[in-house]
Amino acid sequence: MVVPAGEARVSVFDRGFLYGDSVYEVVRTYDLALFELGLHLARLASSAERIALSLPWTADRFDREVRRVVEASREADAPDPAAAPWNLGECSVRIVVTRGSGELGLDPGLAVEPTVVLIAVPLRGPPLAAYREGVAAWPFGGPGAPRRGGDPAAKTGEHLFHVLAVREARAHGAQEALLLDGAGSVTEGASSNVFAVRGGALETPPLGVGILAGVTRAVVLDIAGRLGIPVRERPLPLAGLESADEAFLTSTVREVLPVVRVGDRPIGPAAPGPVTRRIHAAFREAAGGGHKPGKAPASV
Ligand code: PDD
Repeated sequence: MVVPAGEARVSVFDRGFLYGDSVYEVVRTYDLALFELGLHLARLASSAERIALSLPWTADRFDREVRRVVEASREADAPDPAAAPWNLGECSVRIVVTRGSGELGLDPGLAVEPTVVLIAVPLRGPPLAAYREGVAAWPFGGPGAPRRGGDPAAKTGEHLFHVLAVREARAHGAQEALLLDGAGSVTEGASSNVFAVRGGALETPPLGVGILAGVTRAVVLDIAGRLGIPVRERPLPLAGLESADEAFLTSTVREVLPVVRVGDRPIGPAAPGPVTRRIHAAFREAAGGGHKPGKAPASV
């Protein structure tokens, strides 16, 4: 059933609401076509498997229903003059599957059947100025600090650590929080993957350090391969990121977003660097949606 978002209701006994007992994905459109929906649905299936939740729909059904909700949500959104042009008129869809509702109690056996919610909203990506000037990121956690819970490779509704990380980042005027592990290395952002650029090569933490296998990360690694830009997947100590020539974040709604400050330290000359710009331009080409009249600028 498709209803206006404000009218959708979920039970107070839903385990997603009570315990974060859920998995989710965020997908986006370009020219209202879904970008890499197949990869997102494969990750949804993998996240569900990792928490022993059996998805109630096949990938085909998810595919159909996501398209249906995008179609149903085409409403005129007031144009935002600060928006990056490739985001104008686009939408994002949050796919949420919870273990369902049932009697109160942690035992997952109490859940009756999974709840599926698809939320389509107008896409709110970073403003164009963020791509032109870069953003700040704020480190969170590290040696001696409380550690994140759960399985970082599963995209689940368990988010309190990430919420507190973003709260801290925003308090310092930063766009994103960088999650540190017990050794003080940067693993990923609160909702993004992290890259450094050093001597013309990309450095990014490997999946093995415990991060989400970002769809945008995979697209960027592929682009780097095609452009002949070397990639070193290895742990990224905070000091290593701070001393990089350039840095950027990747995520579905951010694409490739330059980072020009980490904590109180500028990265390189504190302006988006040439490798970041090159990768983002190639990403814009690959994603499409940059070719419509009025959406043209591949240079940001
Ligand atoms: N988050 N790491 C984490 C912890 C994330 O939550 C996300 C995405 C990513 C980037 O993944 P991708 O490139 O597939 O979007 C990395 C989504 C977008 C969100 O929570 O809004």
